[in-house]
Parts: sequence; C-alpha cells; structure tokens
Amino acid sequence: MTSIVGRTPATATKLTVDLGPRSYDIHVGEGLLAVAGRHLAPVLAQPRVVVVSDDAVAPIYLPTLEAALADEAIEATSVVLAAGESTKDFGHLQELTEKLLAACIERGTTIVALGGGVVGDIAGFAAAITLRGLPFVQIPTTLLAQVDSSIGGKTGINTGVGKNLIGAFHQPRRVLTDIATLETLPRRQLLAGYAEVVKYGLIGDAEFFAWLEDNAARLLNGDAAARRHAVITCCAAKAAIVADDEREAGRRSLLNLGHTFAHALEAQTGYGEALPHGEAVAVGLVLAFNLSVRLGLCSSADAERVRRHLAAAGLPADVQQLADTSWSADDLIAHMERDKKVKDGKLTFVLAHGIGRSFISREVNRDEVGAFLKDVLGA
Ligand code: NAD
Ligand code: GLY
Repeated sequence: MTSIVGRTPATATKLTVDLGPRSYDIHVGEGLLAVAGRHLAPVLAQPRVVVVSDDAVAPIYLPTLEAALADEAIEATSVVLAAGESTKDFGHLQELTEKLLAACIERGTTIVALGGGVVGDIAGFAAAITLRGLPFVQIPTTLLAQVDSSIGGKTGINTGVGKNLIGAFHQPRRVLTDIATLETLPRRQLLAGYAEVVKYGLIGDAEFFAWLEDNAARLLNGDAAARRHAVITCCAAKAAIVADDEREAGRRSLLNLGHTFAHALEAQTGYGEALPHGEAVAVGLVLAFNLSVRLGLCSSADAERVRRHLAAAGLPADVQQLADTSWSADDLIAHMERDKKVKDGKLTFVLAHGIGRSFISREVNRDEVGAFLKDVLGA
C-alpha cells in the first residue's frame, strides 16, 4: 500500500469547471493524495476539515490523507461510514450530519469526501444542508467517481421510491483525483466505472470510443498513461457539459444516456451489491442503443458495436444476464415513471443516431418502450 500512496507525485493536470463565482479546478495526477494538503489549502476557508470516507477506503487512504493535511497544518477529523450503496439513505444522512455537528464544525469547515460515488453523494449532500451549506471538496477513489460523480455538484441519497430523488446541487470547491488510487479498486468496481467512461464516447466523441476499443485492455489492466488519458478526456467532457448546463435544463441530460433503464434495473434489484450502478449503466447503454435501432434512429451495426465492446471489456451487456425470471416490462416501466426523467407523462430518454451522436428525446411513447422491453425480456 505504502508503495502506491508514497509514490513521488507526478505533475497534476488542471481542468476548470467554469461556473462563474462557483468555478473550481479538477487536479488529476498520480500520487496526489500524498500532497493533498498543498492542493487543498488554497480553497479552504479555515485550516480545518472533516473527512468523510467509508470503511473500505479509509483503512487504505485515510492515514496518507491525514498526514498530507497535517503537513500543511490543516486540522482534520474524520467520519467513516459503511461501504456500499445502501449507505446512501436517510438513516446514514442523519448519522453523518449529527456527527458533523458533534464535531463542532463552523461555517468555514470544509467537508472532504474521500471515496467513491456513494461517499461523494452523501457527503456532498450533508455539506449542502448542514449549517445551511458548508464548503466541500471531492477526492474520488473509484473510476466512476473520477470520471463522473465527483464533478458537477449533484449530491443526494436514494429512497425506496427511486434513486437520487432527494438531493441538492452543491458544487465542490476542488476535485483532487489521484489516479493511483485505482490500483486498489476491485476489478468489478473498475469495470463498473468503465461503463461511464464508454458513455462519454457514445454521447459525443466517436473518436474516443474508437480509442477505447483499441485501448480498453491497457486501461483496465493498469496502464497509467491509458488511465490518465481516459480520466482526463472524461473530466474535460463533463466539465464542458456542466459549465454549459449546471442545473440540467437541457444538454446535461445527455449524461443520463442509459440511465433511465439503469435506474429501473437498480430499483428492481433493490440498490444492493447484486447490481453496482456501473453494471446497470452498461446494460442501460445497450438498451438505449437497441431502442434507438427499433425506433429507426440508429443502425444495428452501431448498437452491436456498443454491445460487443462492453461485453469484451467484461461488463454485463444483455439484460438477460441480470434479469430475474419474475421481472416484467411493466415492473421496469413503473420504476421509470417514478424516476425524475418523466415529464407530463412522457418518458425522457437519451437516444442515439449513432456512436458519438446521442440526443435527448422527451417524447418517447410509454407503450413503445413497454413493447420493446417485453421483447427484450421475453415477458
Ligand atoms: P461506491 O462509492 O459504492 O464504491 C464502490 C466500492 O469500492 C465501495 O465498496 C468502496 O468502498 C470501494 N472503493 C472505493 N474506492 C476504492 C479504492 N480506491 N480501493 C478499494 N476500494 C475502493 O460506488 P461508485 O461506483 O464509486 O459510485 C456509485 C454511486 O455514484 C451511485 O450511488 C450513483 O448513483 C452515484 N453517481 C453519482 C453521480 C453524480 O453526478 N453525483 C454520477 C454517477 C453516479
Ligand atoms: N451523472 C449525471 C450528471 O452529473 O449529470
């Protein structure tokens, strides 16, 4: 472990999320955790932070982060939550906010989220609502969080009714992305994040998708240059979209490619370890392309290329790989109708004219999706 976090830090690449007074930088590099204090100090209102992490990440990375903060005379306390999607709920939010208050935080105390998307989402939401808003920074340690959830200020928790339905937009002050932390990430979680990487190619960057077809194995097997290229490409794409449409009035919805299906699949499986978010996204991406083919919008050759690439990477790409025999198209549609992508009774989908040519459709007919899912599920 020491060899990873103790590595001499490489130069960080800096990207900016341009949001006027709420603008912030993303620093991407290897070994940055060991010098986190130096990267965070300029954005702290006071030299005091509370680090929020989970019980899988904290044993590996919290000591390094605490030492790096101490190097810059930044006082740090920590709250460690149970790892896993089920932590993103009201009970854990209450526990976290009460622990923050018990730590005698002040309005200038910064919350530092150290972990994957679960920690980032709940810690960010706690920061948004505690004392009516605390500053926070993200230190993402999963591929999914590094390319997606740490950027853009969406924070929140799940409820029994649906995913991420309670939350707030609350932008971080800085995102510190140490790619070396991916070296300890379990393969299944790495792959789950890879689905979100592929998403960026499918949304608007066919060249990046082609690069992934050639370089996925290198990236997934630990090649640092490939990882750096992919993470920076995705962060740049997300930063541009968020800068253009912070509150998801339009273009930001493109980031939901595959997610209308994915959230229904996650709701159906109960938000547990059985189906990580990224695996649901992989299946959702294939479903979104296949629905686009069915609606006469996209070639079947492109949809097959997407399916083949995700499957070759080792991700589930067919809904049959997940489906319980008791599932029905009506169950999935019912989940979609409760998702926030429903407006005036119409389902909003991100569909595609081809790889790198996704678009938002707010007029997808419920019955057409139902018939599509019946065919896919055979039920
Ligand atoms: P996660 O946070 O549950 O992390 C996955 C697992 O990996 C956890 O067990 C965690 O403890 C462990 N882990 C994390 N980093 C590690 C490391 N470096 N080494 C070893 N183990 C490590 O899951 P995730 O995939 O990062 O995030 C999924 C969540 O992100 C979902 O709740 C999803 O809704 C959310 N999300 C949010 C946004 C957003 O914009 N806010 C975008 C996409 C996804
Ligand atoms: N991951 C979706 C978004 O940030 O908008």
